[in-house]
Amino acid sequence: MQNFQFANPTQIIFGKGQIEQLTAKIPVGSKVFILYGGGSAQKTGLLGTVKDTLKGYQVGEFGGIEPNPTYETLMKAVEIIRKENYDFLLAVGGGSVIDGTKFIAAAVPYLQGDPWEIVRDWLDVKSALPFGVVLTLPATGSEMNDGAVITRKEIQAKLPFMSKAVFPRFSILDPIYTYTLPTKQISNGVVDSFIHVMEQYLTYPAEGKVQDRFSEGLLLTLIEEGPKALQEKENYDVRANLMWVASLALNGLIGSGVPQDWATHMIGHEITVLYGLDHAQTLAIVLPSLLEVMKEEKQAKLLQYGERVWNLPKDMSVEEKATAAIERTRNFFETMGVKTRLADYGLGQDVIEPIIANLEAHGMVELGEKGLVTPAIVRSILSKSL
Ligand code: NZQ
Ligand code: ZN
Repeated sequence: MQNFQFANPTQIIFGKGQIEQLTAKIPVGSKVFILYGGGSAQKTGLLGTVKDTLKGYQVGEFGGIEPNPTYETLMKAVEIIRKENYDFLLAVGGGSVIDGTKFIAAAVPYLQGDPWEIVRDWLDVKSALPFGVVLTLPATGSEMNDGAVITRKEIQAKLPFMSKAVFPRFSILDPIYTYTLPTKQISNGVVDSFIHVMEQYLTYPAEGKVQDRFSEGLLLTLIEEGPKALQEKENYDVRANLMWVASLALNGLIGSGVPQDWATHMIGHEITVLYGLDHAQTLAIVLPSLLEVMKEEKQAKLLQYGERVWNLPKDMSVEEKATAAIERTRNFFETMGVKTRLADYGLGQDVIEPIIANLEAHGMVELGEKGLVTPAIVRSILSKSL
């Protein structure tokens, strides 16, 4: 096992009706700025509930943070916060609102230059406004981690940054808030969570026995509960399990002490910024083909995954088992309603070179757990995804 340090300071407040904890978690006298997305939080009534709960505070609000949040939109919130001196942020939404809030939290006190530098130079900023989260979409794990992915439209960049200063202070996870999700977002959430686990699990053996067993448990739970969420829209326990899996899949725990891949995500981000596909759709396109192309390098873990997660018979040949494990993965995404081919989204051969050019422009030319995913390998991966 590799050396590691692990700390996760985010307090999780989980369960039905836990919004009532909100005022206990925000310091008395705070000037609170509520951030939300394109309108779902208003429509579902959650925004009204949050505002009612916060009636003892001075409150402002900012809506319109889009999926794949943009620097252009977020800087408008930064200006308001600086002018009106809000000192506590509250994100009400999914990964995009939370990531946007993380950027805003870091950008407000960043006065030495353009806050885009935080993302462009992957600055480990030391100061950020404190913020909490009311989660409405289980998928990204952003509610319990210190990462964010920000898009700058004018230069077609979608890039991650990380800083311990942007861990949420607390996150309220009430599974009932996910009942209003459109089917597509339920599917996206399951696939994104699944692939977060795969990015940290399906690399090469590192004697991380605990990490492997945790990861396999999370994958099995997604395989069992994911399809149920599509059938039984208001099954509380199904939603609760999916919500908790999504947080555990990317809160630093299963990735500690083991190699990590993340090539699928980096390729996926370029597909989103260039062609507008949802985050999870891009991952479902890339991962099965990446596993095909990297079959030799990932063989040991691919076989372990096939046996322990998909219950493939021990007497299958190595080649058969690796192929079957990849097929099961692709079928699972399709069963969840997320298509796995570029053609399914109206994209063809001509998108491959622009995606590679963007990766090169962002210095992403040696991706994966061993840096073996070069532009040439990305070309093979995307050709297999047509
Ligand atoms: O904008 P509104 O109107 O609120 O609607 C949203 C949005 O259209 C809707 N929605 C959310 N909760 C709802 C709801 N609709 C009805 N009922 C509810 N309860 O769902 C749509 C998608 O929301 P979004 O926040 O964009 O989805 P998601 O949570 O999948 O976040 C995706 C973003 O997170 C980034 C992705 O790259 C993408 O930008 N990621 C962040 C990560 C992190 N911080 O660790 C890791 C991930 O790998 C990922 O890259
Ligand atoms: Zn993701």
